[in-house]
Amino acid sequence: MGILEGKRILVTGVLTDASIAFSVAKLAQEEGATVVLTGFGRLSLVERIAKRLPEPAPVLELDVQSNEHLGTLAARVGEHVDGLDGVVHSIGFAPQTALGGNFLNTTWEDVATALHVSTYSFKSLAVACLPLMKEGGAVVGLDFDATKAWPVYDWMGVAKAGLESCSRYLARDLGPHNIRVNLVAAGPLRTMAAKSIPGFKEFEDSWPAKAPLGWDLADTIPAAKACVALMSDWFPATTGEIVHVDGGVHAVGA
Ligand SMILES: NC(=O)c1ccc[n+]([C@@H]2O[C@H](COP(=O)([O-])OP(=O)(O)OC[C@H]3O[C@@H](n4cnc5c(N)ncnc54)[C@H](O)[C@@H]3O)[C@@H](O)[C@H]2O)c1
Repeated sequence: MGILEGKRILVTGVLTDASIAFSVAKLAQEEGATVVLTGFGRLSLVERIAKRLPEPAPVLELDVQSNEHLGTLAARVGEHVDGLDGVVHSIGFAPQTALGGNFLNTTWEDVATALHVSTYSFKSLAVACLPLMKEGGAVVGLDFDATKAWPVYDWMGVAKAGLESCSRYLARDLGPHNIRVNLVAAGPLRTMAAKSIPGFKEFEDSWPAKAPLGWDLADTIPAAKACVALMSDWFPATTGEIVHVDGGVHAVGA
């Protein structure tokens, strides 16, 4: 018996097989879940990647900036599963001008895009899925430790600080629906999102050396395992929490 046996899980954010979401979807299936995916933009690419999962999974289109996509999401998911027990938010984007050391010059329009896609969407996705979560469940998002000002992460760091706060407010408001809301703060991983950060190499060089447990920049499984565990029945009284999956970097001095 897997720890997600019988659970129905929506996983957003699969783009390539290096995506954190891909590992989450794969592990969730291996642990017994029925998985529905959403993809953004390059849907044929996402469908091709989905074929590499142990079981076929439907791919639905979701741009979190589209009210139409969000408004129809529950009905579209409902064509594949009769409810949801878990929702994974693995979505982030910031325009290039908002990253890479340009913090003082980024325009509000570009900051607004980063916050809309990376922060506000955590709330929009959870609310869009609420009609399918009548028996309660778990929402999990992917975070990057926002307690510090990092090199090059810039407005994405501000967006993640907002995500951490958003997660606590969602935990407050969805708790009465028996829905737990938690974040997994992963260390740096070589995904498309990471490659689009100018200067990401600074993290690549320093993180493995700083981490008490060491850190593999190509291994998304530890972060995925935490997501799967948080959606299982093994964290029944945990909400508003941030689980660090970073080799221990958050706990030690530089
Ligand atoms: N890679 C890292 O180092 C790292 C570390 C900690 C947290 N994270 C977080 O993990 C999450 C997943 O990122 P990843 O690293 O797997 O990279 P990724 O590029 O594989 O995934 C990012 C996803 O966001 C989606 N997306 C972008 N704009 C969207 C929109 N408007 N609507 C819907 N989806 C949209 C993309 O299609 C993509 O699937 C992000 O929240 C990211 O910030 C990543």
